[in-house]
Formats: sequence, structure tokens, C-alpha cells
Amino acid sequence: MKAIRIHEFGQPEVMKLEEVERPIPAPNEILVKVYASAVNPIDLKIRDGSVISRLHVRLHLPIVLGWDVSGIIEEVGSEVTGFKQGDEVFGIPNFPGDGSYAEYVAADAQKFALKPRSITFNQAAAVPVSAITAWDGIIRGGQVQPGERVLIHGAAGNVGHFAVQFAKWKGAYVIGTAKAADFDFLKKLGADEVFDYQSQKFEELLKDIDVVFDAAVLGSEMQLKSIKIMNKNGRLSTTQGYPLIEDVTKALAGKNARGHVIYGENKIQGWLTEISRLFDENKLKVAINKIYPLVQVSDAHREAQIKRRPGKLVLEVTKEK
Ligand SMILES: NC(=O)c1ccc[n+]([C@@H]2O[C@H](COP(=O)([O-])OP(=O)(O)OC[C@H]3O[C@@H](n4cnc5c(N)ncnc54)[C@H](OP(=O)(O)O)[C@@H]3O)[C@@H](O)[C@H]2O)c1
Repeated sequence: MKAIRIHEFGQPEVMKLEEVERPIPAPNEILVKVYASAVNPIDLKIRDGSVISRLHVRLHLPIVLGWDVSGIIEEVGSEVTGFKQGDEVFGIPNFPGDGSYAEYVAADAQKFALKPRSITFNQAAAVPVSAITAWDGIIRGGQVQPGERVLIHGAAGNVGHFAVQFAKWKGAYVIGTAKAADFDFLKKLGADEVFDYQSQKFEELLKDIDVVFDAAVLGSEMQLKSIKIMNKNGRLSTTQGYPLIEDVTKALAGKNARGHVIYGENKIQGWLTEISRLFDENKLKVAINKIYPLVQVSDAHREAQIKRRPGKLVLEVTKEK
């Protein structure tokens, strides 16, 4: 099968289109014929090697990048229940093993759910990593309740735009930070208030916040400013992927508030199934910036480095009929 692999870390050119062995699914795995994959910030950070020292697991090169996928099940491992050949699925395969910039991927069945029927394969591939991260931040970490005031940093991003919709779905009053050019996008998604991170100081303009979700990895200084405007018993969730520093945990304790760091979640099938249902009930939308054929993956990575418009960059592997 064809796959995009890296043998060394570096610029987009290190991604090579190669002929490799089609994977054989283990007993707990499904083999998926890939229809689409998508580009996430972690793909760029692994490709250029900048995140390697912070990963909890070892990476082995060469590796196939890509940890969002949508496709059709080709083969089911002997221990897999709940899926059959021909099912349309979406999921997060094998992070950080061989991923979905390929014609086929084999991965733990628990990391997939049935694809929403109401969206295309290209749209479905744009969902798993970003939506699961937003779910972790808003639903698990944020424990958002109806009527609460939720502040989302990086609200127009891949993760942020799902976070806005999940918080609205939970009945919250949603405030987002973004650049002014993205305000209309956020208002259409349901944000109640928007602040320009380039020209406004949210910490001087806002108060009585119950939940803060940092969907942009803005660091401890922003976390401390956010905690200052937080109510007692508040919650702070962050996508930063490494522990909160002591000053932040102390500030949280001073408000009897909780902190939640998203490290990447393993048991995602239940969350993906709920997310799939929200799409089919027309309660959730996914923003796509651009769709590239798999062979143009280097262009997609270059675009991701400078992206100035909301929406995910999708890699189409198989054309949908
Ligand atoms: N821990 C995990 O498991 C996990 C999982 C997924 C993602 N992540 C991390 O979460 C972050 C977001 O991922 P993503 O896919 O959503 O990326 P993304 O689409 O690039 O979104 C980031 C957003 O943050 C905005 N932003 C930049 N600086 C800001 C500031 N000072 N204040 C408010 N917003 C600001 C960006 O706006 P502009 O367009 O104006 O720059 C962009 O809309 C990445 O760092 C990613 O690595 C972590």
C-alpha cells in the first residue's frame, strides 16, 4: 500500500510517499481502508522532532504520521466485538505508532466509533483528535453545567471550535478569545461574547468565570490571569499536555478550584459515539479549511504552519463515491 513516512525529523520535505506492507490487524484491532486523514499540530511537532523529548513513549522511525482517520473496515481482529467488515468508522489510531497518512491502518478497535451518517468521510476525518480533546476539556475536566460562564482561549482553533459547541450544548454562557477576523465564525457557532487576544486584555474585561479552557497552550502566565477572574470552585482545563506549574496549582487551591491537563485519552470510543450522535442530531458542525490529496501532504503541512483561516486541513486518501 502507499503511505507517507518520515525516516528523519525535519521540514515538510522529509515526508516521503512510499510503498509499504499493508498492516495485519492484531486480535484486538480493525484494519481500516482509509478514506481521509487530517493534519493536527502534533503531526508537525513529531515531523520536525520538536516534541520528542516530551513524549512519554518512544518513537520508532520510520513512522507513518497522521492520527485522525475516517474509513471503512476491511478486516476485523478475532477478539473484536461491536464492529464488522464494511462498517464506516472514524477514530484516532495508534498514537504515536503508525498512523493514517496511508491507504490502510490497523489499530485498536476501542479507538474507533461508527462514523456520523450525516457527514462525509473528509468531514469525519477532521473530527476525532480535536473533538475528543475539546470533550476532555469541557465535559470531563470542565464539568460544565447549565448557566455557567465558560471562557475558551483559542476558541476559533480546531479544538476551540468544538469546545465552543460542547459548552453551548451543555447550556453555558460561552466567551471566546480569538483574533478579530474570526469573530463572525465564532458567533455563528454560538459564542455569546468574543474578545480579541491581539488588542484586548480579557483579564481586565471579564469576571465571574466558572470554567476556563485553554485550547491554545498559552502557558502559566495566562493561566494565572484566568484564575484571578475565576469564581470559587472553578475549573481550569488545558491542552498543554504537561503538568501545571506549582504557582498555578497554588492559585487554583486558593479558589478551591480544580485543574485538568489533557494528555491524550485512550478509552475514547464512548466519547466518539456521543460526538457521532451530536452530528447526526444536527447539534454539531466541523469546520474544514482545505482538502488536499494525500500526495500533497507537504503543502498541507506548510499551510498548517501559517494557517490564518479557521478549519481543519484534511488529507483525502480515497475519493468517496
Ligand atoms: N494534550 C493533547 O492531547 C492535545 C490534543 C490536541 C491538541 N493539543 C494542542 O492544543 C493546541 C490547539 O490545537 P488546535 O489543533 O486547535 O490548533 P489550532 O487550530 O492552531 O488552534 C489554536 C488557536 O489558538 C489561537 N491563538 C493563538 N494565540 C492565541 C492567544 N494568545 N489567545 C487566544 N487564542 C490564540 C489561534 O489563533 P490564530 O489563528 O490567530 O493564530 C488558533 O485559532 C495545540 O498546541 C495542540 O498541540 C493538545
